[in-house]
Amino acid sequence: MPDKKDIIILAIESSCDDTGAAVIHNGKMRSNIVASQQIHEQYGGVVPELASRAHQQHILPVVDAALKEAQISKNDLTAIAFTQGPGLLGSLMVGASFAKSMALALDIPLIGVNHLDAHVLAHFIDADEVQFPFLCLLVSGGHTQIVKVDSPQHMEILGKTRDDAAGEAFDKTAKMLGLPYPGGPLLDKLAQSGDPHRFKFPDSRVDALDFSFSGLKTAVLYFIRDEKEKNPDFVEQNLNDICASIQHTIVSYLMRKLKKAVTETGINEIAISGGVSANSGLRTAVKLTSQKLGWRVHIPALEYCTDNAAMIAQSAHFQYVNEDFADQSTVPYARLNK
Ligand code: KG4
Ligand code: ZN
Repeated sequence: MPDKKDIIILAIESSCDDTGAAVIHNGKMRSNIVASQQIHEQYGGVVPELASRAHQQHILPVVDAALKEAQISKNDLTAIAFTQGPGLLGSLMVGASFAKSMALALDIPLIGVNHLDAHVLAHFIDADEVQFPFLCLLVSGGHTQIVKVDSPQHMEILGKTRDDAAGEAFDKTAKMLGLPYPGGPLLDKLAQSGDPHRFKFPDSRVDALDFSFSGLKTAVLYFIRDEKEKNPDFVEQNLNDICASIQHTIVSYLMRKLKKAVTETGINEIAISGGVSANSGLRTAVKLTSQKLGWRVHIPALEYCTDNAAMIAQSAHFQYVNEDFADQSTVPYARLNK
């Protein structure tokens, strides 16, 4: 039986194409349910309109499952949290409206969570080994950033992508190779039995700690076109090596920027997060570099890399403690507000 003073938060994530709900009880994760949408595969990318509809269908069963698994009744909840942005506006609105209605009906506080902060704070889910300040390489389908994290409330973006995100670089090059959406995880799998040094692709030279992936995308496009002119079966015959070489280029580029950030800040407490932190090449590279350079490194469990509601719940717990609440007039935002 929960105590009256307990903090029990139901969190909802609906920023893109995964509908998630999680329950956190006094900082401990009690459930984490996610329903992924398969419908987008046939279109080769997320179709916003279809994503919103699928969220509408999934949200109630996902929330019910999260409460059931946590063995928490709605009346025990002390707050409702939702992903406020950034993300697809129609998708965010489904989660926001649902959360607002529940908070209103139960007469409990509402908490709006920044999705990117939540990816970073995923490292605190049932764990407290990460020490402030730390540097987080946040690599997802929509964003690529190096963030200096001084506390859950104070984060500074030291560098970010000027065009595509790292996840998009994986997905778009995978699409050029004929792989189904989202291509990132599949490209990773194929790369594992390929030669990463077989083909050379350029990475982009942008200043400081910023990133750019558009040059790589163009290079892969022309490389495939030129090789196919000579041999129409080139891609099929060399798929593993092409995937491994693309992955190697992206991972080396991310690592070079991360090392630069460590040198510039003197911080060697390092974390990676976001969907691309599930990439086997990146996970290995971060581990090896940490051994070589003496970093303390934090790599999230796979279930907390890609979009999930547990990270929203974790962020919401920090916000609850700080009494950082939203009101019923709060609206979602599609783009980053910082
Ligand atoms: O964090 P996330 O689930 O959603 C966003 O907030 O964007 O990230 C999704 C991205 C997709 O681009 C997906 O292809 C990529 O993460 N991703 C991967 C891997 N797993 C997911 N990219 C490379 N290797 C993987 N194993
Ligand atoms: Zn995400």
